[in-house]
Amino acid sequence: MRLDILTLFPDLFASFLEESILGRAIKKGLVDIRLISIREFAKGPHKVTDDRPFGGGDGMVMKAGPIYRALESVERERDQTLVILLTPQGRGFDQPTAWELSKREHLILICGRYEGIDERVRTGCVDMELSIGDYVLSGGELAAMVVADAVTRLVPGVLGGERSNLEDSFEDGLLEYPHYTRPRVFRDQEVPGILLSGDHEKIRVWRRTESLRRTLERRPDLLRRAKLSEEDKRILERLEQESAKSETGS
Ligand code: ADE
Repeated sequence: MRLDILTLFPDLFASFLEESILGRAIKKGLVDIRLISIREFAKGPHKVTDDRPFGGGDGMVMKAGPIYRALESVERERDQTLVILLTPQGRGFDQPTAWELSKREHLILICGRYEGIDERVRTGCVDMELSIGDYVLSGGELAAMVVADAVTRLVPGVLGGERSNLEDSFEDGLLEYPHYTRPRVFRDQEVPGILLSGDHEKIRVWRRTESLRRTLERRPDLLRRAKLSEEDKRILERLEQESAKSETGS
């Protein structure tokens, strides 16, 4: 997969691209990430990338010209290139969207800055707008890192022998069960006995139950869309009865 990131601050990405899973994926040649400095495509001796808004008002607006020229400098893969603008006004980025994007051969991410970006960038060259949450960041760079991380770890071969990404929270629409490692007792807190029992079937049911419990307690909204088996539905019914009982104190 190829990822081109258009930004005014390419240096922000340095350590992010070197570390961990993404760094290894780049070294293995599974992911090719290039940073394109929008400023290099600005004109004049001062390389100005923003200007005052037409109609007046506070703040500056990113100019369309440098972004268009930076985009035109990127070679495209026919039918496979998707141009994405990171903006709080975009569609909410989630795991299904990460899967959808991981199947593309080429993504171009545009990071906005300042108060805004000339509307003609949106209307003239953007295929999709993505938001990573209902809050406003100072720029799209952190959002681009979030998208790059979530998408590239789904590219075949990137996770290698590590835990399958199919077990992750959200893959089946549920939150993950709790994890433990050594020591068995840590500051008076014990690992649940079942995990030490060696009984794989009991462990599987315990993990599924805890996963359902967490989702019910923390994100009941996810249960409506989750893929639930008949066994899951029985477990959920029991969990709901348990919580109703504890609420009435009986
Ligand atoms: N740029 C600023 N805030 C953002 C957000 N929440 N998501 C994506 N891009 C952004």
